[in-house]
Amino acid sequence: MKEVEITVFRYDPEEDNAPRYESFTIEAKKNMTVLDSLFLIVEDQEPTLSFRCACRLGMCGSCGMLINGRGRLACRTKIEHLGDKIRVEPMRNQLIIKDLSVNMDKFFKNWEKVKPYFVPKEDTDEFSVIPPGSGRREIIDENQDCITCGLCFQSCDAVAIRGENFIGPAALSRAYNLIADERDGARAERLDMVTEEDGAFGCHTFGACVEVCPKGIKPMVTIQKIKMKKLKKTIGLKW
Ligand code: FES
Repeated sequence: MKEVEITVFRYDPEEDNAPRYESFTIEAKKNMTVLDSLFLIVEDQEPTLSFRCACRLGMCGSCGMLINGRGRLACRTKIEHLGDKIRVEPMRNQLIIKDLSVNMDKFFKNWEKVKPYFVPKEDTDEFSVIPPGSGRREIIDENQDCITCGLCFQSCDAVAIRGENFIGPAALSRAYNLIADERDGARAERLDMVTEEDGAFGCHTFGACVEVCPKGIKPMVTIQKIKMKKLKKTIGLKW
């Protein structure tokens, strides 16, 4: 067991004039996560501290926050890897509801914008079953592990600069999966939509999204594939 100081961002937009930081000392046990430490603070020291979580397994994507300045899932981040002083802040690029809880409407609005669902073609027989291990399967399997945690969105400089006017890494990655799926009846329409003003060409290729994704997805790389497809489509090549 060791003593760790957890400094947490505090802000209630309905009550406070400005944000502040509050520090708590906890006894950290082996394998304790940052999420565990927040629960400990709520139980023993500050019951009004607000944060979001659900599965505690790295699956639901609801515990994304800035931990020592980097976007991470609190439930998958062990305290022993972070040192004796830990700073926890809400995700960037989103409105704060309270403390560490953010409003993800902007993120999900953009997610909806790209039609994130499969639209079957009328004549899908030839393509309806894609055998596992085939090249086509590999292409459409890319990015499937996305848990919509929003960490890529919060780390994205293009979102920081252009706000909702940039669709963002997660939604573009999702769109690519469907654009790359030859069975999808809306792929052409979707490709045009995600290469409009607020789409793929707004990516600055800084790569922060690749760094923070807890599932190892590389949205920046995928976005370049969207650009390439658009280019091919525009000059009449097979895409
Ligand atoms: S609580 Fe579900 S991913 Fe962390």
